[in-house]
Amino acid sequence: MLETPAAIISPPLSMTWPRFGQPLRLGIMASGSGSNLEAIARSIQRGDLHAQIQVVLYNNPGAGVAERANRLGLPTVLLNHRHYPSREALDQAIVQALGAHGVDWVVMAGWMRCVTNVLIDAFPRRVLNIHPSLLPSFPGLRAVEQALAAGVKVAGCTVHQVELEVDSGPVVMQAAVPVEPGDTPATLQARIQVQEHRIYPAAIALAAAEQSGL
Ligand code: GAR
Repeated sequence: MLETPAAIISPPLSMTWPRFGQPLRLGIMASGSGSNLEAIARSIQRGDLHAQIQVVLYNNPGAGVAERANRLGLPTVLLNHRHYPSREALDQAIVQALGAHGVDWVVMAGWMRCVTNVLIDAFPRRVLNIHPSLLPSFPGLRAVEQALAAGVKVAGCTVHQVELEVDSGPVVMQAAVPVEPGDTPATLQARIQVQEHRIYPAAIALAAAEQSGL
């Protein structure tokens, strides 16, 4: 019987991660449970990703990511979007907090807000995002539900550089997983998340390596 592969990852995960003179100084932005934050932090702890997490910014009081960051001993800053008059004003506060913590790479790990040029221009080509679809298919909210509704046979996740349009920008790395008969949004999301946790740390290293010409 032919077996469906668990995932196809491109470019392939490498056993030899690029090293940098100094660890990458990451600022994580998250709105939800923070499982991608934890995957990145564990990759750093294992010595795979040569980086340090300077700060975790989150926008929802009570979001699981805050507790997870505390458990991992990472500093957190709550920037509640409801307290800012515009997206630009929120992004100004974000840029200020990232700057105050010495961040040089911005990693959106389940950040569920649209960003503006205020953030993008402050970190040119240094803002990354992960999205639970094979972009450019199914951008925006409820990507996994969109994929199931469209009847696709292959789903997945994408790490990309952030541009102004939601879930757009140059692709850094993708993982594809099969959609299985009887899949629900929850079962497909879980299959995709396993791969998110594998590719995000590698994609951060890859994006940084590409930019420094390694
Ligand atoms: C992830 O599945 C990520 O792809 C998605 O939010 C989830 C966060 O999970 N991001 C988006 O949909 C962005 N458009 P986590 O809080 O467990 O890391």
